Amino acid sequence: MSIVKNKWSIKKLAGHCGARLEGVSLANASTSQLEEMRSALFEYGVIVMPEQHLNPEQHIALAEFFGEIDVNRFFTPVPCHSAIAEVRTSPGQTEVIGGTWHTDHSYDPAPAMCSILNAKKLPPFGGDTHFASMAAAYRSLSPGLQNMLRSLCAWHSDSSFSNSNVGIKPKKNAFRDPTIHPVVIKHPSTGVPCVYVNGDFTTNFENWSLEESAPLLSYLYAVITKPVFTARVVWEPGMVAIWDNRLVQHYATADYSGYTRLMHRITVAGVPLESF
Ligand SMILES: [Fe+2]
Repeated sequence: MSIVKNKWSIKKLAGHCGARLEGVSLANASTSQLEEMRSALFEYGVIVMPEQHLNPEQHIALAEFFGEIDVNRFFTPVPCHSAIAEVRTSPGQTEVIGGTWHTDHSYDPAPAMCSILNAKKLPPFGGDTHFASMAAAYRSLSPGLQNMLRSLCAWHSDSSFSNSNVGIKPKKNAFRDPTIHPVVIKHPSTGVPCVYVNGDFTTNFENWSLEESAPLLSYLYAVITKPVFTARVVWEPGMVAIWDNRLVQHYATADYSGYTRLMHRITVAGVPLESF
């Protein structure tokens, strides 16, 4: 009888999103192990893998398994590795990058499909990342509201970076025109419907004013981020987290003032989003 070695063990983090995968070294994973990991990503929205300790080259190789790297135009790159964004909190900061609910790159016509965060230096406490399922939020809505939302598109803008107070100093030419996405998207790989609006980048519904859009957008943000639809990731040294920006939103907790936190992030290119 053969003994199966190096197999992923998969344990859910919460009821509606998140899973912890252990047992395989990402740096040495086979194609089938990587494919199983990608299936888990599409099923759970966010996956965390402890004790990986990836160096920049291994981090890039992992990203390239998913597709072409989408270099963020606002973040500072890691020295000598322009494909990797540095997500750094200095001891004096009281606000952090990503400290409000959002999906990465929704301001782009083809938003990043996934983000891969690699823990390099962690504070002694705090700095957890919360995730919320936009698919579970959609399932929880009444058929009447689901139908209405499916008829809508919304504008997304990168303009919130111009007021950034978290160490991001964008170049003037980094900004692009707003882009539009369906409010209910169909996940490009699984077809699962998700409510695709977020508080950082969505500005208003197509053909609706900002003022008219605000109440319904606020309601949708409140539904998506209900605690029942969330999972909380407590970082560990060497941990890698991957989330699908079409399935989950995330929120970085700014509760470790006085300490440094350093993460390396790569975003992988996505596709234009279609309505459900
Ligand atoms: Fe983010």
